[in-house]
Amino acid sequence: MEMIDILYKKRNGEALTKEEINYFVQGYNEERIPDYQMSALLMAIYFKGMNKTETVNLTNAIIDSGDRIDLSMIEGLKVDKHSTGGVGDKTTIALGALVAANNVPVAKLSGRGLGHTGGTIDKLEAIPGFSADLSIEKFSEQVNKIKFSLGGQTKDLAPADKKLYALRDVTATIDNISLIASSVMSKKLASGADRIVLDVKTGSGAFMKDIDQAFTLGRAMVDIGNGVGKDTVAIVTDMEQPLGNTIGNGIEVREAIELLKGQGSKDLLEICRYLGSYMLLLAEKVSSLKEGMEKIQEVIDNGKAFKVFKDFVKSQGGDIKYIDQPELLHQTKGVYEYKATKDGYIHQIDAELIGKCALTLGAGRLDKSTEIDHRVGLDFLKKIGSFISKGETIVKVYYNDNNKLNDSLGLLEKSLEISDGFRTVPKIIHGVVTKEGEKRL
Ligand code: URA
Repeated sequence: MEMIDILYKKRNGEALTKEEINYFVQGYNEERIPDYQMSALLMAIYFKGMNKTETVNLTNAIIDSGDRIDLSMIEGLKVDKHSTGGVGDKTTIALGALVAANNVPVAKLSGRGLGHTGGTIDKLEAIPGFSADLSIEKFSEQVNKIKFSLGGQTKDLAPADKKLYALRDVTATIDNISLIASSVMSKKLASGADRIVLDVKTGSGAFMKDIDQAFTLGRAMVDIGNGVGKDTVAIVTDMEQPLGNTIGNGIEVREAIELLKGQGSKDLLEICRYLGSYMLLLAEKVSSLKEGMEKIQEVIDNGKAFKVFKDFVKSQGGDIKYIDQPELLHQTKGVYEYKATKDGYIHQIDAELIGKCALTLGAGRLDKSTEIDHRVGLDFLKKIGSFISKGETIVKVYYNDNNKLNDSLGLLEKSLEISDGFRTVPKIIHGVVTKEGEKRL
């Protein structure tokens, strides 16, 4: 087999065989296929697409490039959750505790982020002492004991995905349905979960800007999961504006803690109740979505979820003082209050620009060598649909460097739109894709 023949085939819009897909995934992973040929293939896939069988074969080839994690030491049905990525998305941090407090084991392997803010692990590392560097034995033991553990994805989990993703990132080939679906599902399936809940984001701050595309991506992933006997559900959620009020690392952990204490922002709570409820449904803990939502609310109201979160942080080495006083998580040199220059309704808070603003402040990294500033970030006091008076603070900017603050303010200004006309609060949940079909809300 020759890579050049595979390139011709895909360029001409033909479907690739399982053998051809295995050949290029294995070859690229083992560095036998050069970047220039793989880049050309990715671009051909981007334009010509892959059918369902090709996407499943690509997923399996990526899984086979590394190890499958054995979570059989963990008792009970393990439900994993994955988000396709968004701005201000601290859902995993809160959800882990909400679901675990309902006695469903949450064994989460997470990644670090390249982008606007850190990934879930980077966010939790804002808590001094916290470590996601656990052996599989310690990881499993912790889940059995307190029902929640969060470990880092090892380099042996779907290694071909890491290489392919890095190349996609610099060849404008991220936002393709088959490539995203195989990337996400290979990691989920290799991680050993029994059931999977996917949060597919759509809007300016998401890969899938278009809502129909987001549903198609959801369908592709649900089909892959169910095709291998792992019950999978995808929820399409909004990412036109950042999720919740905060964007950063430590500051997002603070917001997740607030939610667990019953003081969270409405949109974050809605997403957590919805995703959490589906996690409980798939884990067979409840028999309806409504019952699931009640159970999620119950563990907020009775303090159980907050207790699980504290136990989880303690067990992974984190300093509990920062959980009791979460404002310590975003203590910076200065706080700039960005105020409204006129009266009106907030019509837009562009999630993508806000992400860039957080990155400019130092909350994220564009390459692996960049150090994240865990303390900087943004805290919105008003969101889309709110009325604001001239001089009122819209957002507080936590900064450590004056030059970075000045650069970020330009982006902040561009991201906001205030107008006279009334603006409704945007919908948070757009719909659900299950093996039975698609429901738009
Ligand atoms: N998240 C992933 O893990 N992979 C993608 O391709 C996109 C989002």
